[in-house]
Amino acid sequence: MEKVGVIGAGVMGRGVAQNLAQSGVNTVLVDLSEEILEAAKEEIYNSVRLQSLFKKAEVTESPQEVLGKIFFTTDITLLNDASFAIENITEDWGKKEKVHKMLNSICPENCNILVNTSCISITRVAAVYNHPERVIGTHFMNPVPLKTAVEVIRGYHTSEQTIQETECLLKKMGKESIVINDYPGFVSNRISHLMMNEAAFIVQDGIAAPEEIDEIFKKCYGHKMGPLETADLIGLDTVVKSLKVLYESYQDSKFRCCPLLRKMTDAGLHGKKSGKGFYEY
Ligand code: NAI
Repeated sequence: MEKVGVIGAGVMGRGVAQNLAQSGVNTVLVDLSEEILEAAKEEIYNSVRLQSLFKKAEVTESPQEVLGKIFFTTDITLLNDASFAIENITEDWGKKEKVHKMLNSICPENCNILVNTSCISITRVAAVYNHPERVIGTHFMNPVPLKTAVEVIRGYHTSEQTIQETECLLKKMGKESIVINDYPGFVSNRISHLMMNEAAFIVQDGIAAPEEIDEIFKKCYGHKMGPLETADLIGLDTVVKSLKVLYESYQDSKFRCCPLLRKMTDAGLHGKKSGKGFYEY
């Protein structure tokens, strides 16, 4: 059976690992400490339990059965026989570069490297590899097990074979692939981060409260979530890091981070994952 390595067990990595395990894929989930892995186990357990309680008719396996298909480890060298490695670590180029250098030396030559990032250029990541044609972007949406499409990013060197094999894996996970070309922020985040950032400026300027801004998007535009609810769900720390990448990549002041966002993250308000952001959880 195919073995898929998932690196990073935070908000996205644990969702990807759960989705893979529920699709019958042999999954190895890697993070830096046992403590983080234990937290991921608990989150996956709760997520599967909620899925079966609230809706998904197709959820037939118990949380224990799903967890039984995931091997939790701090040892990244276990990916030496993986067919796919899906990297979901912190949105920080220095950290990502180190992990990709490791993956380049550990993973087999024919292993597809899937990069889950909000904004970092896939071509930049691929430059670390001896086989850049195997590197591709997979911008999963949050929460991963519930979302039905993935923004797939073709780097400068990404081969057709890599695209096809990635699309196959994503199909197995119940997801449609929308393939686009590589530029920082891709399509989704190049647009959505401008909206979230501008919404934060509107709060900072005292023009409207978060609830009012989000209601306008939901009730007037028919969006499922407003920009500030979305920012809280993503994690305000991740939004700030992504804006930094966009600002540096395009050298364009339209991506300058709203000071209120920076102040909130400095104060430990990271959104839903920390219990407080623009809203309380
Ligand atoms: P997070 O902060 O929740 O989790 C990141 C995880 O990476 C942490 O558990 C951390 O311990 C781990 N990590 C850091 N360095 C590592 C290393 N050297 N080896 C193994 N694990 C390591 O971040 P989140 O939200 O899961 O984001 C992950 C990536 O996905 C980022 O690049 C982000 O931009 C992207 N993304 C995030 C979305 C969101 O809604 N949060 C949506 C789509 C993409």
